[in-house]
Amino acid sequence: MTAYPELTMLLPDAGRGFGSDPAETELADLVARGRPGGRWVTANMITTLDGAAYGRDGRSGSINGPADLRVFSVLRALADVVLVGAGTARAEGYRAPRTPERLRAVRASRTTTAAPALAVVTRSGDLAPELLADSPHPWVFTTSGAAHLGHLRAHLPPERLHVSDDVDLAAVLAVLADAGLPHVLTEGGPSLLSDLVARDLVDELFLTTAPVLVGGDAARPTTGAWFDPQARAAPVHLLHADGVLLGRWSLRGPRLGP
Ligand SMILES: NC(=O)c1ccc[n+]([C@@H]2O[C@H](COP(=O)([O-])OP(=O)(O)OC[C@H]3O[C@@H](n4cnc5c(N)ncnc54)[C@H](OP(=O)(O)O)[C@@H]3O)[C@@H](O)[C@H]2O)c1
Repeated sequence: MTAYPELTMLLPDAGRGFGSDPAETELADLVARGRPGGRWVTANMITTLDGAAYGRDGRSGSINGPADLRVFSVLRALADVVLVGAGTARAEGYRAPRTPERLRAVRASRTTTAAPALAVVTRSGDLAPELLADSPHPWVFTTSGAAHLGHLRAHLPPERLHVSDDVDLAAVLAVLADAGLPHVLTEGGPSLLSDLVARDLVDELFLTTAPVLVGGDAARPTTGAWFDPQARAAPVHLLHADGVLLGRWSLRGPRLGP
């Protein structure tokens, strides 16, 4: 247990709600701890007890709740850019992220921008005009064969649209880092997270376990091809609030950062 001080520190407190604090200074400190200053990829996902990444309505909003929302909001408040697959942008109706008033101080203490940027990867280019035209515009990474490439070109300024033969996720991260957005928060979905993990591009995973079972045949937080080799993770912390388990796992060994 000594390798994981947060586990020994926080599991004994598991029955207590994780301190109610609208400004989330304690949670933000915990999240920021162990991160290097440069390029870093955090993933944040939620699963039900029976492994589903969404409920019967096809959205993760039906399985999350206030405790998960606290982690979701703090992770966004500390990120330079939120990266999602187009499936998630479509299913969840993504728009440009905004920082809630209560988290502005936490964000201002650690970043220079008012809110994280949004980046979307898509092979089809099928994204809502309202998302593309939002202010600020999202970054969109797509393929030269995308069926909706003209639609993307019509709605996005050229500097926000990146077109290549195939979407190379390492190259996507490099473009974002070069644009001053080195700290990436990916919110999935399952297909994108699988591709990122398969390419060993994820540094840490925040995984919320919602205390519900939904049956059905929803994807898990990762989906598609088996990983070869399988990815290993080490626990960093495990919080508990409102019956929800809030885990943080390092994909870089027991210690985060260099
Ligand atoms: N449990 C959670 O925490 C969580 C988080 C996010 C989403 N979800 C749920 O997951 C479901 C969506 O699942 P999903 O697997 O379809 O999500 P997804 O990974 O967000 O979307 C898949 C789509 O994103 C694009 N994409 C993904 N990886 C790509 C890559 N490497 N290169 C280029 N494009 C890539 C493609 O878009 P095109 O189809 O446009 O080519 C692909 O069809 C929704 O029900 C959503 O609510 C759950």
